[in-house]
Amino acid sequence: MFYPRFFFSSADFFFVFMSGAPLYDLLAQLKPGLRFHTPGHKGYHGGIFREIANADVTELPVTDNLYCPQSVIFQAEKAASSYFGSYMTVFSAGGATLCIQTALSFFKGKKVIFERNSHVSAFNAAALLGIKPEFIYNRMSVIPLPVTSEQVKDSLEKNPDAEAIFITSPNYYGLCADLSEIKKICEKYSVRLVIDNSHGTHLYEIDRNSSPQRNSDICIDSAHKTLPVLTGGAFLHINFVTDLNFVKNSMSVFGSTSPSFPVLASLDYAREWLAHGGGESIRRTGESVSDLKRCIPFEIVESEPLRITVIDANAGKLAERMLENGIIYEMATPVSVVLLFSPFNTDFDFKTVKKFFMNIDIKPKRPDSVFSFPETKRKVAYLDALFSDYEIVDSEQAVGRIAARNVLPYPPGVPVLLAGEEILSLTGLKGKICVLKKNL
Ligand SMILES: Cc1ncc(COP(=O)(O)O)c(C=O)c1O
Repeated sequence: MFYPRFFFSSADFFFVFMSGAPLYDLLAQLKPGLRFHTPGHKGYHGGIFREIANADVTELPVTDNLYCPQSVIFQAEKAASSYFGSYMTVFSAGGATLCIQTALSFFKGKKVIFERNSHVSAFNAAALLGIKPEFIYNRMSVIPLPVTSEQVKDSLEKNPDAEAIFITSPNYYGLCADLSEIKKICEKYSVRLVIDNSHGTHLYEIDRNSSPQRNSDICIDSAHKTLPVLTGGAFLHINFVTDLNFVKNSMSVFGSTSPSFPVLASLDYAREWLAHGGGESIRRTGESVSDLKRCIPFEIVESEPLRITVIDANAGKLAERMLENGIIYEMATPVSVVLLFSPFNTDFDFKTVKKFFMNIDIKPKRPDSVFSFPETKRKVAYLDALFSDYEIVDSEQAVGRIAARNVLPYPPGVPVLLAGEEILSLTGLKGKICVLKKNL
């Protein structure tokens, strides 16, 4: 049985014949009978949910169980594992956040080295799992830079009791670390390399050998960020021999007992799409992005192929103009604007961005600022601070006080200040800050 699906891409139409996506196929042809089970919409939800309601089911005898998979989910995850060449790949309907929680469960109570420029979900998971975090402070430019192999080596020398290292590549700006070199170092020091590849699921189709999926012990793909996956869909790849029950049990501790089946099926769908033309269209889109970059009169960082990160002192103004022209960016900071592309951007999208940059009347200017995290010292345990009483003060009054909440610009979701840290300098801090009522 084939289910033709039509996608319009910037360069082509794709016909994806869904014959090898067991979970997607099951939901696409589901005839659930009389519904005396959740969800309450019974498959007949109206409005914009009409299309998806029939597939929005729960753990029925035919649909399997994410945390104890035995039929279609088991097959869909097996298909993903064989496509990505992992020992094990499991699905998450709770985003990369749930994958990070599951990944870090392997190191409960142990020491793990994190790059400081990690997503907040890593710090939260580490605290919940009693992990002792050690930091690598990223080198800084206008934006934070990826960790280097020298930094990894240095940190492993200083922390011989670390069991794993957690790095992010690509980062939100699309900058990538030298993963094959870092992997070699981790092997030499016998520590696990966990890569938060939230922004780079598609990199597997750019170059498999240098991909995060192939150069890690555990790799987290927030697939919904760059693939045709519903929001919340993510892959967790494990590249060493381990027990599926351990992984599923860990995920079930953090995840909802009602994961969204449409989200899970969209992961199955995307994997099938990647294997049948999607990979080729990702590479073609990369070429189109590269052509587009040549028409942009601003400084552009050397990023992964499906992203344009413009750096400019007037990035705020540039971002405003983009919105006025209907160009909705992924992230804008005072010094950068980030645009994400995928094969589902049309030729019109590309032409509009090109025209925008060709007509822009803002003169390029390199920012003279350098990004930095404020100087801090841990004084109170992260979770104790996060759940403490707080008061709000201006940043100028915050020096010498202890942060009661993270200072968390979103995006990129990297805490500038972590709860429980004493603020020693104002660098990198502006505005109102939640501090503990009394310094402990
Ligand atoms: C680097 C990084 N890691 C993890 C996450 C969390 O991903 P999700 O929203 O899929 O849970 C994000 C989200 O923006 C991210 O940027």
